Amino acid sequence: MDDLKCGGIAVIDFGSQYTQLIVRRLRDLGVYSEVYAYDGGVERINRHQPAGYILSGGPNSVYDPGAPGLPSFLLDADRPVLGICYGMQLLTDALGGQVAAAIEREYGPATITRTVRSPLLDGLQPELKVWMSHGDRIEALPPGFTSLAQSANSPHAAIGDLKRQAYGLQFHPEVQHSPQGSAILRNFVFEICRCRANWNADAFIDEALGGIRAQVKDERVLLALSGGVDSAVAGALIHRAIGDQLTCVFVDHGLLRKGEAEQVLRVFRREQGMNLIAVNAVEAFMSELKGLTEPEAKRKAIGRLFVDTFSREARRMHGIRFLAQGTIYPDVIESAADSASAQTIKSHHNVGGLPDDLHFELIEPLRDCFKDEVRQIGLALGLSEAIVWRQPFPGPGLAIRCLGEVTWERLEKLREADAIYIDSLRQAGLLRDGTAQSFAVLLPVKSVGVMGDNRSYEEVLALRSVTTDDFMTADWARLPYELLAKVSARIVNEVAGINRVTYDITSKPPGTIEWE
Ligand code: XMP
Repeated sequence: MDDLKCGGIAVIDFGSQYTQLIVRRLRDLGVYSEVYAYDGGVERINRHQPAGYILSGGPNSVYDPGAPGLPSFLLDADRPVLGICYGMQLLTDALGGQVAAAIEREYGPATITRTVRSPLLDGLQPELKVWMSHGDRIEALPPGFTSLAQSANSPHAAIGDLKRQAYGLQFHPEVQHSPQGSAILRNFVFEICRCRANWNADAFIDEALGGIRAQVKDERVLLALSGGVDSAVAGALIHRAIGDQLTCVFVDHGLLRKGEAEQVLRVFRREQGMNLIAVNAVEAFMSELKGLTEPEAKRKAIGRLFVDTFSREARRMHGIRFLAQGTIYPDVIESAADSASAQTIKSHHNVGGLPDDLHFELIEPLRDCFKDEVRQIGLALGLSEAIVWRQPFPGPGLAIRCLGEVTWERLEKLREADAIYIDSLRQAGLLRDGTAQSFAVLLPVKSVGVMGDNRSYEEVLALRSVTTDDFMTADWARLPYELLAKVSARIVNEVAGINRVTYDITSKPPGTIEWE
């Protein structure tokens, strides 16, 4: 895989909430980039021979005791550097300039005016809208630097030493609110660092196939297929590489949405021709969930039984050396953030807690990819949009959307109502573009209604649709009233046992996306 990764950009993280965004913007430009902890060590940071470095922002002031420092090798690096916000202040401080608390902090939109021509801001408007978020600012430039742009509160909103190829931006080019931000990053990577735009789904697949074959040789691989995007794409990729040496196990726990279990079998067994073992564990899961109403108790019971069921299948198969997982890059970054430094990146075990007697080596072909890249790879491998654009779905499935006790009858009710909702959103063109996640929740509440001439006393359903980029925060989707009216009428008419429909208008925070 090394060729494709060589000559990209190393993004050095100082704790900014936007660091992943920088990497995503660069990858969108076709340039491979990775996040490294600031104290990750020069060898690690340079392992793919980056063509340049970007220093992220961060919450500290450079003068805070114990604030993250500039890795010293950067002072003599013969490659271009771009510091963003805290990264710029670190660079300034280390190279002999001066940083101080600004009299007026700048948070939010600002306009900067270019003062000097430079390769970093070439081709852009003289005035740019940008997003600021800083308390400190540059008071005196280091020797060799000139100011390239200013804002009302920052005389040095962009700085550069063109000879040294070191640049700094007081604002965040990586966020949406800096509309020309990608153009600035494009200048940095192509005009200053001379990167090639070679990172795309086809190139990734080409290299990944070789990498998987070299790792697996003639051994066998096992994959737990959930039907979710990541395991589906990992499965399709590994299957393309090694064909029947891959065996997939799909545990049907009865907690999937309407038609999903059938879809997994159809797509992966029939269309993709994969070696797929389907385990019908519905009864076992139902009896494990009997009487449980507390959300964490449900999650634990499901997790435990899943591992037991999967392990039993795995033990039955002899001679399997590798366990494949659909780990993706955000999982890897999160795991790394747990450790004191990124040098000990752990594997993120999706099939967590496998018993000790099952010794597998891990194979994680998507661990360098973001979700949107995984989708591109899936499409390039011939998976349908229905699989690739599937909405996120929690591991414990409908059990945590069926509030109160999970019974088969209630699950079926929820499945029907959810299918009506999703179908209506799809028809209205709101499933992929208007909402990030949409689903129905069956509440442990009954309400009185009237149907025909009769009183009804049935269950209540909540509909939930959210918009979000990262699922860390979310807002409730402003769906058209007409659509909600139609969905509500259909559900109450078509699903026996539900007589009232509500729409959840809670954002996250303070709510969560799921109800349990
Ligand atoms: P919350 O409810 O925490 O959800 O705001 C954020 C995102 O995570 C999904 N989610 C889960 N995914 N196992 C999963 O694999 C889980 O236990 C789980 N709980 C929540 C949720 O659907 C949303 O996309």
